[in-house]
Amino acid sequence: MTTVIKNKHIVLGVCGGIAAYKSVELLRLLKKQGANVRVIMTENAGAFVGPLTFEALSGEPVCSSLFEQSFDASIRHIDWAEASDAVIIAPATANIVGKLANGIADDALSTFMLAVTCPVGICPSMNTHMYENRAVKRNLETLRNDGYFVIEPDAGELACGTTGPGRLPEPEDIVDRLLKMLTIKDMRDKKVLVTAGPTWEAIDPVRFIANPSSGKMGYALARAAEYRGGDVTLISGPANIPDPLNVNVVRIKTAQEMAQAVFEHMEDCHIIIKAAAVSDYRPKEKEKHKIKKDNDEMIIDLIKNQDILKELGKRKKDQILVGFAAETRDLEINAGKKLKEKNLDIIAGNLVGDSSSGFGTDTNKVTLFFKDGKKESIPEMEKNEVAHLLLDRILERVG
Ligand SMILES: Cc1cc2nc3c(=O)[nH]c(=O)nc-3n(C[C@H](O)[C@H](O)[C@H](O)COP(=O)(O)O)c2cc1C
Repeated sequence: MTTVIKNKHIVLGVCGGIAAYKSVELLRLLKKQGANVRVIMTENAGAFVGPLTFEALSGEPVCSSLFEQSFDASIRHIDWAEASDAVIIAPATANIVGKLANGIADDALSTFMLAVTCPVGICPSMNTHMYENRAVKRNLETLRNDGYFVIEPDAGELACGTTGPGRLPEPEDIVDRLLKMLTIKDMRDKKVLVTAGPTWEAIDPVRFIANPSSGKMGYALARAAEYRGGDVTLISGPANIPDPLNVNVVRIKTAQEMAQAVFEHMEDCHIIIKAAAVSDYRPKEKEKHKIKKDNDEMIIDLIKNQDILKELGKRKKDQILVGFAAETRDLEINAGKKLKEKNLDIIAGNLVGDSSSGFGTDTNKVTLFFKDGKKESIPEMEKNEVAHLLLDRILERVG
């Protein structure tokens, strides 16, 4: 996946906490996204995970002492600080949190941290009572005020047997927050509504009419807008994708539920992006019991669902309305028609059936059609990249 951390120099700080084993997976995920990662670990971290593991996975020497000999005669804690684009400390012990809040530099990691000028993410992880200790809370508040990006721990059952906040978030979520930390916040004052996924229109209690929409494009848009500082609501049909972090996710099943949720949330949004594949029709009647296969043929009467996008186009005030058009032919004609008829500002059209774009794929190849008649063909790219590009175009028009 191509993200903001590709080719970036990241230092992973590892402390002596029970969750240090998770930083091995975190390192692997960062490397997978193309980041150059160096690890600085405290002496106590070595009691939990050996430096060899980090060395093998990062392909770089691990720094665990200020005074170790290095062949290149560099002053590592200064050189690495100057070369880094981001630092993430995971797990961050109560000890390192206290040291950073007070400017203490008594080992490799804490000394390095005083020389760092790039964005820093801190993942505090400890026993719940330690996390709720007044001194630790005070120190974390100091770090927030000093501009550190504190990634809140998860709550749940901890390794020490207590239940509550203090668990290190899963490595995927730490990477996600790191991406947010490094994304420019140009949507800070924007309320964004995104729809995603298919709808399910019930035929009987065990069958429904749906479509192959995976929700990936809509989720990518919601995530991208959240990274950029937007206040995001995602209304999602059934999709097998975890909720994007820090996004208000409303899960619905049918087109009618989608309509209700959209009209409830649209009012105060600056930007509305309808990436959901809403069913145009639904069975007139939902059978109370499972239909038996007694007949060779059967007819299901369908009735039309409300055209949500058209209704949004009628109701829209000073808002940017963006639609998607998945077509199997005549993309330009069909997308252009939809743009006009539904009073949209932008429509992103794509031809489905191509293995590189459309339903379920990780990439998309869309053409943007704008209200003013302009058109932009975007080459095939990952859905998260399409999402950022579309948000760029939207922001150019929001003013
Ligand atoms: C088994 C074990 C697990 C520990 N887990 C944690 C932890 O999750 N979080 C924490 O803040 N301290 C934890 N500690 C305490 C730290 O290891 C201790 O405060 C140490 O001084 C931290 O050093 P460092 O910050 O230099 O790595 C643990 C200690 C032991 C023995």
